[in-house]
Amino acid sequence: MRKLKVAVVFGGRSAEHEVSLQSARNVIESLDRDRYEPVLIGIDKEGRWFLNESSIQLLNAGDPKMIRLTDGGHEIALMPNGSGSGLINLESNTRLGKIDVIFPVLHGPFGEDGTIQGLAKLANLPCVGAGILGSAVGMDKDVMKRLLHDAGIPIGKFVTLTAVTREKYPYDELVERLSPVLFVKPANLGSSVGISKVRDEKEYNKALDLALSYDLKVVVEEEIRGREIECAVLGNEDPRASIPGEVIPHTDFYSYEAKYIDENGAGLEIPAKLPVHVVKMVQETAINTFKALECLGMARVDVFLTEDERIIVNEINTIPGFTRISMYPKLWEFSGISHQELVDTLIQLALDDYSKRSRLKVSVEI
Ligand SMILES: Nc1ncnc2c1ncn2[C@@H]1O[C@H](COP(=O)(O)OP(=O)(O)O)[C@@H](O)[C@H]1O
Ligand SMILES: [Mg+2]
Repeated sequence: MRKLKVAVVFGGRSAEHEVSLQSARNVIESLDRDRYEPVLIGIDKEGRWFLNESSIQLLNAGDPKMIRLTDGGHEIALMPNGSGSGLINLESNTRLGKIDVIFPVLHGPFGEDGTIQGLAKLANLPCVGAGILGSAVGMDKDVMKRLLHDAGIPIGKFVTLTAVTREKYPYDELVERLSPVLFVKPANLGSSVGISKVRDEKEYNKALDLALSYDLKVVVEEEIRGREIECAVLGNEDPRASIPGEVIPHTDFYSYEAKYIDENGAGLEIPAKLPVHVVKMVQETAINTFKALECLGMARVDVFLTEDERIIVNEINTIPGFTRISMYPKLWEFSGISHQELVDTLIQLALDDYSKRSRLKVSVEI
């Protein structure tokens, strides 16, 4: 059997560049070499694509703070021409041959938001994970919440504003409408970048400036007091949910530092200590969220569990962290699916979805 060429795409123009490198390393190591041939594509912070030699692809890969893309490699591009031409070497202007599937391991904008999914579609290639729509709505906290609300899935109170409309949302009014403590977030980002927990008007204004420096749209949310529970989802039309895990931040909230810089920033508990009926509720909510947002392949759904056992969806991550110690692969590992099986399943799901869509008519038959 011919091995499938899997283009693992990592790095990218995002605040989560370094995390992506660590996630990609784990995906690459988990690819079954009897069935798949990895093609490693590193995107630098300027957005240039490089074909990396497998042995040297990540510098200082063992150290999360030092990890970065290796210099060198050939600058390449993926041809968006629909005929499956695949990659082209921009230096020698030669074709590098076809690839069979794209595995984007890009967190945040320019990867998790539908952009690379769009490129894959133009290039007529299967792509692991959510498609353009699911990726874009999963990334946008404002649209995501509106769709969840529409589907009857519990979310916290929130408002959405821009630089133009911010005057209409004075601090006092929001405190009245939402809660005494507020969370201010750029609508489209991840890894807690640009997020503030706000306790007074001065902090509120500063938080808006900060969030508006990352995105044109900002969400302001009521504070939800509860445990942070995360659930992994895997599948296409009929997805399954993993055993939930819990994040226990040791800081004010689960900030960028707590996630990636401070080793003692947060504890992960797998499985989360929850009664069986709550586990069921979390799993159902995770699956309903996945479906409501039209996701495919994989996602991690993060919820709050309040003291009175209400579940409130915080967000979905369509390309969740995939490092060796990340929640998504760990939850599946605990649920009996190894990293290798997981990566294999994700690729098969992408191929299934692609072949289904390939059979659709694209024009009127005369
Ligand atoms: N409405 C909220 N109430 C309480 N804590 C929140 C709220 N929103 C966010 N947080 C805290 O901030 C963290 C990051 O927010 P989140 O919306 O998950 O952003 P990101 O997409 O960057 O991960 C959460 O894990 C949680 O600790
Ligand atoms: Mg989060």
